[in-house]
Amino acid sequence: MKGVVLAGGLGTRLYPLTFVSNKHLLPVYNKPMIFYPIETLVKAGITEVLIVTSGPHVGHFLGVLKNGKELGLKHVEYAYQEKPDGGIADALSLAESFADNDNLAVILGDNTTDADISESVKNFKEGALIFLKEVDDVNRFGVPVFDKDDPQKIIAIEEKPDKPKSNMAVTGLYFYDNKVFDIIKNLKPSGRGELEISDVNNAYVKEGKLKWSKLDGYWNDAGTFRSLYNAGRYWAEKNE
Ligand code: G1P
Repeated sequence: MKGVVLAGGLGTRLYPLTFVSNKHLLPVYNKPMIFYPIETLVKAGITEVLIVTSGPHVGHFLGVLKNGKELGLKHVEYAYQEKPDGGIADALSLAESFADNDNLAVILGDNTTDADISESVKNFKEGALIFLKEVDDVNRFGVPVFDKDDPQKIIAIEEKPDKPKSNMAVTGLYFYDNKVFDIIKNLKPSGRGELEISDVNNAYVKEGKLKWSKLDGYWNDAGTFRSLYNAGRYWAEKNE
């Protein structure tokens, strides 16, 4: 399995911090944010990674990650997303030739977690696997709708719903087989003009190919001031 770290976008929710660099290079305690998702992949044995980025500060990534060796990567590639606000699924579409028919572990560059995903990596064969985590502010995220008769079965994912139907967030960690690229080619932009990763997951739901697992450990997406602060505090306390 290969890894894809999605690190594009303009990070507008973090203006003015993101005037100076890309969101995913901002510090979370003692490291650039993107080190955390890369380390999650490396810990699970995934050492071939594509970084997809966009926006005005793309050049900064090379200076920070270099050839990836210091982080334990055997191979790192970079892809440039022309539309920084094209959405997560648009960014993922750039990974098709890198994937070369292999399965992918996709992680958002602002997600930090101490979960060990090695077993899930070993067991994944086909379809899609998403990771859920109970949170307080669930309407900031993709939220699953479970079947009333079969509470383990997801029947849809709703993106940032006003009235969430569960308290579980869809985290920014996803495993996909190679069909993901055909799915993305058929997506239409959402109301916010993006190709949504939740729509990709809904396509797998329709085919009966979406599985889920609880993310076992700390998880945070550092996309807002409060969550960036919380992530820094968590990692500081864990490491001191
Ligand atoms: C994105 C996804 C959302 C997911 C979240 C996890 O949200 O669209 O489904 O729950 O990442 O971090 P965004 O970063 O666009 O707010």
